[in-house]
Amino acid sequence: MSLQRASFQKCISPECGAMFDLSQTLVACPDCGHLLDICYEWDRLKVPERLDYFEQFWSQRRNPQRFSGVWRFHELLPFTEIGDCLTIGEGQTVLQQADRLANLVGLQPGKLLLQYEGFNPSGSFKDNGMAAALTHASLQGAKFAACASTGNTSASLAMFAAVTAAVKAIVFVGSGKIAYGKLSQALDYGACTIQIEGDFDDAMQRVRQVCPDLGIYLVNSVNPFRLEGQKTIMLRVLEALRWEPPDWIVVPGGNLGNSSSFGKIFGELKMLGLIDRIPRLAVINAEGASTLNHLYNEQHLRWQGGQFSANQMESCLDSLRDSRAAAQTVASAIEINLPVNLAKCLRALEITDGVVRDVSDEEILDHKALIGRHGFGCEPASGASLAGVRKLREEGLISESDRVVCILTGHGLKDPDVTVGYHTNPAWREEKGIGQATSANPPTTVPNEVEQIIAAIRQFH
Ligand code: F0G
Repeated sequence: MSLQRASFQKCISPECGAMFDLSQTLVACPDCGHLLDICYEWDRLKVPERLDYFEQFWSQRRNPQRFSGVWRFHELLPFTEIGDCLTIGEGQTVLQQADRLANLVGLQPGKLLLQYEGFNPSGSFKDNGMAAALTHASLQGAKFAACASTGNTSASLAMFAAVTAAVKAIVFVGSGKIAYGKLSQALDYGACTIQIEGDFDDAMQRVRQVCPDLGIYLVNSVNPFRLEGQKTIMLRVLEALRWEPPDWIVVPGGNLGNSSSFGKIFGELKMLGLIDRIPRLAVINAEGASTLNHLYNEQHLRWQGGQFSANQMESCLDSLRDSRAAAQTVASAIEINLPVNLAKCLRALEITDGVVRDVSDEEILDHKALIGRHGFGCEPASGASLAGVRKLREEGLISESDRVVCILTGHGLKDPDVTVGYHTNPAWREEKGIGQATSANPPTTVPNEVEQIIAAIRQFH
C-alpha cells in the first residue's frame, strides 16, 4: 500500500468536501475556493497505539529523518515515504519550565512552560512547516518555490533552498516591513528577494497571482502541507510533558497557520485515541492587526461544524481591503490584516474550545523583555503569547494551577532594532506609543574612568 494512496487533499468545507490527489499542487479548493487539508485513511496506515511509540526514535540520531523534530513523528503526517522527506535538522527545540516568570504572571511554580521555537535552524517555527512543504514540492519536481513573508517564512524557505538545493527560492516582502535579521537571512542565503511597495497583505496577494502563471510552487500556509509540518510543534510539547496534554496552549496569531495546525493535530490525536483530553488554545493578536479578534469576539463568528458564515468573513476582509486599512504593530511578524487561514483557525478554536485576545504593543514589548530577563530571547511577536497569558490570568479564565504552554515562535536576534529601541530610546518608544517600558534595561554611559565605572556598577546592584 503506497502511503500516497492512503492520503489525499480535501476541501475543509463539509458542504463541498471535494477530494484531490496528492500529486496536485493546490492552495485552495478548485471547486469552491475554500482551504484544503491533508487527510489520511488512518485505518489503512500503521498508526501507533500510544504516543510513547515515538520514543524509540530517540536512539536513531544518526538517521537524519528520525533526528528531525518533524519527521520523527512521520507516522502522524505520512503523506509520503520517510525516505523522501527533506530535512535540515529542524525541530530540535526545548520546552522550558519558567517558574520565576510564572510567578510574575500569576501562575503556580511548574505551571508555565515556554516552547522555544527559536532553536530551529533558521531561528523560527517556520522550519517545521517548510520541511513538509518542500518535501511535497520536490516530489512534484518543482524548480522554484516562493512565499510572501513578514520575514520568517522567507528566511526559512531561503535556508531550505540553500541547504538542500531542492528548489530555488523567491521571496516577496513588504518594503520597510521586515526586521533586518530576517531580511539579512534571505539575502545571505541567496534567495531572489522581491521587495514590494506595500505590506505583507499586498505581497501575499501578488505572490498568489504570480505563482500559478509562472509554475512556481507556493509555500505560504495556504499550502496544506506546510501545516502538516507545523503539527509537530504540539507533538514535541506533548513529548516533553510525557505525553500528557497541558491545559492551555497560547500562541501569537498572524496568518493563523500555527493555530490552525495545532487544532488539526489535537483533533486527530483525540480521534485516534492517542490523547484523552484536548488543551484549550488561546490565539493572541496584536491590537493593530486583530482581524481574528474582531471577527471572533465582536462579530461572534464561529466555525459551527463548517456551517460558518463565509460571507461574514469575506465581507470583513473586503472592507479591510477596500479601506486599504494597513495593519500596524511593532511586532512585524504578525502585522497582518488579511490572515489566509481564518476559516481553519475558527475550526481549531472549535476543536479546542479556544479563545482569542488582543494585546497592545506596549504589553507585547514589556512581556518580550520579561521573557528575555528570564533567559529566552524571543522576537516581539512571541512576547504576545506571554502578554496573552497575563491577560487571561487577570480575567480568571486561566487559573493559577493551570498548566500553560507559551509558544515562543522566533529568536530574539531576528529583530534587535526593536529590542534596543525599547531598552534605550525614549523617543523611539514615544513614536511607537510604548509608554512606561516597565521592563526596560538601558545601558549606563560612563566616562572611561575606573572610579566612575565602579560607581555605576554599585548603583546597578
Ligand atoms: N510569530 C512569528 C515569529 C512569526 O514569524 C509569525 C508569522 C507568527 C508568529 C504568526 O504565525 O502566521 O502561523 O499565525 N510569520 C509569517 C512570516 C507570516 O511570513 O514569516 P501564524
